[in-house]
Amino acid sequence: MKKTQKISGAISVPGDKSISHRAVMFAAMAEGQSRIQGFLPAEDTLRTVGMMIALGVDIQESSPTEIRIDGRGMRELKEPQDIIDAGNSGTTIRIGSGILAAQPFLSIVTGDPYLRRRPMGRIVRPLAQMGATITGRKEDTLPPLCIRGGDLRGIRYEMPVASAQVKSSILLAGLYADSPVTVVEPLPTRDHTERMLASMGARVVRDGRSVTIHPAPRLHPLAITVPGDISSASFFMVLAAAVPGASLCIRGVGVNPGRTGVISVLLRMGADVRLESPRNEGGEPVADIVVQGRGLTAADVPPEEVPSLIDEIPVLCVGAAMAEGRTVIRGAAELRVKESDRIGAMVKELTTLGVACGEYPDGLWVQGPARITGGQRVDSYGDHRIAMALMILSAASGIPVVVSDTACIATSYPGFPETLREVVR
Ligand code: S3P
Repeated sequence: MKKTQKISGAISVPGDKSISHRAVMFAAMAEGQSRIQGFLPAEDTLRTVGMMIALGVDIQESSPTEIRIDGRGMRELKEPQDIIDAGNSGTTIRIGSGILAAQPFLSIVTGDPYLRRRPMGRIVRPLAQMGATITGRKEDTLPPLCIRGGDLRGIRYEMPVASAQVKSSILLAGLYADSPVTVVEPLPTRDHTERMLASMGARVVRDGRSVTIHPAPRLHPLAITVPGDISSASFFMVLAAAVPGASLCIRGVGVNPGRTGVISVLLRMGADVRLESPRNEGGEPVADIVVQGRGLTAADVPPEEVPSLIDEIPVLCVGAAMAEGRTVIRGAAELRVKESDRIGAMVKELTTLGVACGEYPDGLWVQGPARITGGQRVDSYGDHRIAMALMILSAASGIPVVVSDTACIATSYPGFPETLREVVR
């Protein structure tokens, strides 16, 4: 049975996942004590905390969202005594490998069954070119990765895929190289690494599509308040935008231009989304996001926009299912190698729910407005963003849907079900 929805309120979302990972890793490498407020205490980011503790770093929690890190300095990390488990976290293994590649010891990093299927050749190749010895399953392309770090040389690397994780991994290794390292991106990706390392004293220079890092003797400690995660906020932005009469304010969200593609697409879909009280926190732009619901119309997402909304595509598909017309998303083949094959997963589950949609090798189309079939059971594929997107479809349509395996939501947003209950009345 369809329920009449009232979506309203003022909420905050937890700290940004990308920035929380980086803050912990970079603070561990710094000289002196760093203080991180607004940290995201989720399964993924706690894997990064675990990795740094395994490298001998002292990390104290004053509360789940406030941590202090006694940096050991770039060259005083310790050889881990056991295999490091990155869990589900691609960011932990990929960015962390950039640090491990420069250490004069052996590290082995593995992950859960989902992570052990994700491509690692993309970091192994450039780090090996710099001089690290890295082996892994399937011809050094899958975890576990076995990393024997060493003296690294500077390289210029043209990335075959647009990936902030790969860029960050190479830039971190570049801090330890014998000469500058330049990474050339096919399309711009989020630049949290560049901003944070520059604030810690590293020399990072952007020139068009390339970014160069200079070797650094040391990093200064961090004092940072992590902004709210726009990827977490996007679930509520789409919900409010798709339901006429909704009114929602999401406070203190990071609006780094490398992350705001979801806002651009919602605006093209006719949504009323406004950024209020813009400010700067810890070198990152932050604003309150206010959404008034008035229904959506379809809009296409071209390949060049994909990196700026890569994690928001599952929930944008939900917006597309609620919108008038056909939405087409292309140039998003990377989605096939995320926590799940997000193209296959969304098309399969949306079809189960009665939404007309289909896949391309590098994207998908969704025809709206859909009449959702109620009472169906759909699967999250163990992927936090698929689980949350499907729960948003149920909330936006007012049609009950049972999503199986929602424990994975704790990967990035442990309080999501409670906040969803708070805004839907
Ligand atoms: C991330 C970058 C993106 C994103 C991931 C987090 C990061 O991955 O999908 O959730 O923190 O740098 P890619 O850079 O591999 O596309």
